[in-house]
Amino acid sequence: MDANITQEIKFHSGEKIPVELHKVRIVQKLFLKPIEDRFKAIQTGGYNTFLLNTKDIFLDMLTDSGTNAMSDNQVASMLQADDAYAGSQSFYRMEEALRQVFGKHYVLPVHQGRAAENIISQVFIKKGDVIPMNYHFTTTKEHMELNGGTVLEIYEDHALDIKSSEPFKGNIDIQKLKAVFDEYGKERVAFVRMEASTNLIGGQPFSMKNMRDVKEICDEHGTMMVLDASLIGENAYFIKKREEEFKNASIKDILNEMCSYADMVYFSSRKVSSTRGGGIVTDSEDLFLKMRDLLVLFEGFLTYGGMSVREIEAMAVGIMETCDDTVISQSPSFIEYAVNQLDDAGIPVITPPGALGCHIDAKGFLPHVPQKDYPAGALAAALFIISGIRGMERGTVSSVRDENGDDILADVELLRLAFPRRVFTLSQTMFVVDRVKWLYENRDLVGGLVFVDEPPLLRFFMGKLAPNSDWPEKLIAKFKEDFGDSL
Ligand code: F0G
Repeated sequence: MDANITQEIKFHSGEKIPVELHKVRIVQKLFLKPIEDRFKAIQTGGYNTFLLNTKDIFLDMLTDSGTNAMSDNQVASMLQADDAYAGSQSFYRMEEALRQVFGKHYVLPVHQGRAAENIISQVFIKKGDVIPMNYHFTTTKEHMELNGGTVLEIYEDHALDIKSSEPFKGNIDIQKLKAVFDEYGKERVAFVRMEASTNLIGGQPFSMKNMRDVKEICDEHGTMMVLDASLIGENAYFIKKREEEFKNASIKDILNEMCSYADMVYFSSRKVSSTRGGGIVTDSEDLFLKMRDLLVLFEGFLTYGGMSVREIEAMAVGIMETCDDTVISQSPSFIEYAVNQLDDAGIPVITPPGALGCHIDAKGFLPHVPQKDYPAGALAAALFIISGIRGMERGTVSSVRDENGDDILADVELLRLAFPRRVFTLSQTMFVVDRVKWLYENRDLVGGLVFVDEPPLLRFFMGKLAPNSDWPEKLIAKFKEDFGDSL
């Protein structure tokens, strides 16, 4: 099974093409509307791609969360769901699958990843604590701060380089971790968090060696390691591909070893098992008991945790399928194809290719748009207008303001084009590359954005913006000049 990785299928022509190792059996109609309709849609949505209706979208590359394609076996499993408030057989099937893949005994189901963050933060973080980690995730950080904690990002120096050949940009910097313990003392370090395939810096993995080193330091201080496993399958895949020691290991063995270093593993099942839901797993009865009552209070009874039993069944199957190379390699190999095409065309895109999506560097793409005018947000809106492709802003719009009301400019200003597992075809991927290339050639026409309606918390979800000039009209005029009547 393990030799059967997509990229290793060679074409006689020598071209590097990712081959779909699945067949399509259920399809959904898409809408590629005229550019005028797309312009209206983005205006109505306040230039925020979260506020678009999918009836106006051609390729939805907003996220892989809850949008990965499910397998026939997953859908079939939903029919055997056992409806019961307590003691559902569906839960025990999921518990068994999680024990096999993550190697942990106790399972706490939750309705999605951030619910796990809520419970972990409430139970283990007290005011004044610090939480060192490779990089934050938006909801993670909010939950930690709501409970009085401070997030410390201790990534290695090259982690934020856009163009790089470093295979593991998601590593924690070991010297910086030691310095955190020296500065704060172990009493103030609530736990160390490692996020697999570090989302906000371009889906970049950490190495097994790095995990082992972090674990050693955690053990020295008697501190817990918490693993965010939402994108662990892809991280394991990169360990297999990029870390010599693991080139012949199975994905399951890699997953088992990664989880063995963590005291607690939590995840969004919307990603890791191509379903909905989430969970926390641990081998410690003590940790389990500390979280159990909050689980019942916030999520639901212990054997469903806010999920439908149908999702729980699909999760049990999905988590096992995460160990299958042909499932787990699909998204990274399509991302690699798109990233290489764009990189070859001189377009600034995060390299090496990572998990989750293709990440375009909006600062490099739109150097004339200052960061205070939200270049990644503007790029997301511009790409939607000219193609119907919906990406996600991962830059200053997704950041927050300081106590003076000024924007805290994001470290990286990215447009993320997600590749949910087994959803898009190669010709759709080629369309993405084509339209991004056209936009790059016409990048001077793209201007910035301003907030017109800004919620105080997680503003990127519901906030509305407007263009700071008539740049969208000029961009549309150029599109029509070049493409005529084409969609
Ligand atoms: N941790 C990571 C690494 C994530 O990527 C996400 C979600 C969560 C936690 C929260 O999980 O959405 O199930 O509550 N990421 C989504 C994304 C939203 O689009 O990248 P959730």
